[in-house]
Amino acid sequence: MRGGNAQGVLYGVGTGPGDPELMTVKALNAVEAAPVVAYFCKTPGRGNALTTVTPYLRPDHTLLPMAYPVTTELDHNTAAYRECIETFFDDSAEAVAAHVEAGRSVAVLSEGDPFFYGSFMHLFLRLRERLACEVIPGVPAMLAGASRLPRPITMRDDVLSVVPGTLPDAELHAALAVAQAAVVMKVGRNLARIQAALAAVGAADRAWYVERASQGGERVMPLADAPTGKAPYFSMILVPGPGKRV
Ligand SMILES: C[S@@+](CC[C@H](N)C(=O)[O-])C[C@H]1O[C@@H](n2cnc3c(N)ncnc32)[C@H](O)[C@@H]1O
Repeated sequence: MRGGNAQGVLYGVGTGPGDPELMTVKALNAVEAAPVVAYFCKTPGRGNALTTVTPYLRPDHTLLPMAYPVTTELDHNTAAYRECIETFFDDSAEAVAAHVEAGRSVAVLSEGDPFFYGSFMHLFLRLRERLACEVIPGVPAMLAGASRLPRPITMRDDVLSVVPGTLPDAELHAALAVAQAAVVMKVGRNLARIQAALAAVGAADRAWYVERASQGGERVMPLADAPTGKAPYFSMILVPGPGKRV
């Protein structure tokens, strides 16, 4: 990482899980100080992170939307998807770099924490040698979700596993089979497969479903009462640990 005198700074700003009060003071200071606020979104759409910081935006902020060309339309394992998304991140990195190299710091908003499955990392990996970068950690959504449960997510010597629900069945099953406490991210269209895997490893009865943690429309329920079929993008499954004492 480096920075020239005339250049600005690229900030990766963790905006937390959705509630504007769960942004850190440091994240808020970065948004207030940066003349340019960049955010990922769908077309059309504002993106969750922009909604979170909206109370803190001023009319003189320049907004830089970065709209994904595809989300679920293409299979993520295809060459067509990879080419499309790599070009998108290349172009987004150049758009951000143009501001920073002209002396305008850019706050790239990242829902939750920037380095925890966040798209900001794709800009960071492209620009970290070229620009001064600072990553401002945020409250990860899984901890906002865990705060809603009647039992702590980890106790005593529990080991916590974080598992993407997008894993193929065999990997998903294997990861959950060895988990004590678990968080399953990226539920969406994978809900039924995750429910089946948790049932197969005997953890379904301990599992909770959390939708839109800390956002308007938040829903928290035992997994047994969760919707069937497809879940919204902002949903996760949490399995509190048994409170293992080694
Ligand atoms: C690409 S990951 C981003 C994670 C984010 N960087 C973080 O630190 O929490 C997106 C996934 O996080 C989970 N997620 C993010 N925000 C959420 C929220 N407010 N409520 C429930 N799940 C959420 C969902 O599983 C979603 O599919």
